[in-house]
Amino acid sequence: MVGLDRLVPLLDGRLGPHINLDNAASTPPLGDVVDAIERFLPYYSSVHRGAGFKSRVSTAVYAEAHDTVARFVGADTSGNTVVFGKNTTEAINKLAFRFPLTGRRVVLSTEMEHHSNDLPWRGRAEVVRARVTHDGRLDEDDVDRLLEVYGRRIALLTVSGASNVTGFVQPIHRLARKAHAVGARILVDAAQLAPHRRIDVKADDDPEHLDYVAISAHKMYAPFGTGALVGRRDTFLQGAPEYQGGGTVEIVTPAHVHWAGLPDREEAGSPNVVGAVAMAVAAQALMDAGMDSVTRHEASLTAYALERLRAVPGVTLYGQSDPEQIADRVGVIPFNVGSMHHALVAAILGYEAGIGVRSGCFCAQSYVGRLLGLTPPEQARWHREHLAGDRSRRPGMVRISLGAYNTNEDVDAVVEMVRRITRDDYDGAYYQDPETGDYRVAGDEDAVRSCFSLTGGPLMQA
Ligand SMILES: Cc1ncc(COP(=O)(O)O)c(C=O)c1O
Repeated sequence: MVGLDRLVPLLDGRLGPHINLDNAASTPPLGDVVDAIERFLPYYSSVHRGAGFKSRVSTAVYAEAHDTVARFVGADTSGNTVVFGKNTTEAINKLAFRFPLTGRRVVLSTEMEHHSNDLPWRGRAEVVRARVTHDGRLDEDDVDRLLEVYGRRIALLTVSGASNVTGFVQPIHRLARKAHAVGARILVDAAQLAPHRRIDVKADDDPEHLDYVAISAHKMYAPFGTGALVGRRDTFLQGAPEYQGGGTVEIVTPAHVHWAGLPDREEAGSPNVVGAVAMAVAAQALMDAGMDSVTRHEASLTAYALERLRAVPGVTLYGQSDPEQIADRVGVIPFNVGSMHHALVAAILGYEAGIGVRSGCFCAQSYVGRLLGLTPPEQARWHREHLAGDRSRRPGMVRISLGAYNTNEDVDAVVEMVRRITRDDYDGAYYQDPETGDYRVAGDEDAVRSCFSLTGGPLMQA
């Protein structure tokens, strides 16, 4: 991994390692990815249209990147296409635009979705959401009930492969079978699944086949601005793409357009070739390492983290907190410390222990509100305050999220600091900015600015 050896300033004036426990947001880059980009950049040139040698190299590499990503999710490219875009959000928005939703068709979703797999569907169809249980697990009985109630009106079942809040992994192939039984298709938002579990969309004629999968490279060790939508070719061969322009067409006259084949018609404009190379190299590296061994390592790390965190008095864990029950979850662990503000806990971890975590609602406000047990008046109050510009009482949790490169020592570091926080054993004089709700200590901007400059490279060497 790139940057794990980079020291960062701590509040007491020392430099210490930065421990990234915010992998669900973005992972650091893999060394293989950065190496491949450095090897590729001298050959980088325009794709598709250029006749020069470097253009031919770039075009071939770009096509190979599509194939590698297809292999990463087990997709047969005769029936499926890989469309590169910015990220999972863009991939889902693209599908929401391209997926045929006419008349009274229904999109069946769940109460645990990230906003990126919720908002794109609103306004496109009637969205019904399967409930979650009190601990945040998908209530599959409720999925069955809704499949029964709405039956063939359901055009699409859309579900996160793994939750970015509780880490719960959904039974996606069983859900696929159920969706197909009523004539619907299934989209798996695999932003949080792809870095942690082997994905196999299965053969196109398998009832458990996943029709569409969306993934983000920056969550799988390749943060260079690429994501992918993998899905049925026929979906994209009907109608016109949402973005239209260069690269999407074969023939254009003042009156007519003949759209290009796939994936070109869905990738308008000059593509992010470097990002595609990065994503493909990361996918290949994960396949070479073996997704099963990634899963095993992370499962043991998750069990260790749960065991240690739940032994700290005053810590409330959300979702499934039993270290024995880790088969259907990834290493995303949400918690709070007593009645302390989640953003204060996150700030102390960052300033005093060099630990990067995230706090808040993680783009899943409804789901987090449910897990916190917020009543409707409490929800209404924070909405009111938030919209009035006061974010100081915004609800939320602290989230640690583990990656393939994390170690038991990383877990020990966060548990130790959390334990100190429960005893009020921290040093900083933190103040809260009501406009953001974040906590800071005075003077931290200087430390941030002294670390990296766009023109001069890292100023503060490890
Ligand atoms: C479950 C889930 N879906 C979708 C997204 C959106 O991903 P991106 O920001 O890469 O578009 C995220 C990001 O955290 C996520 O966790």
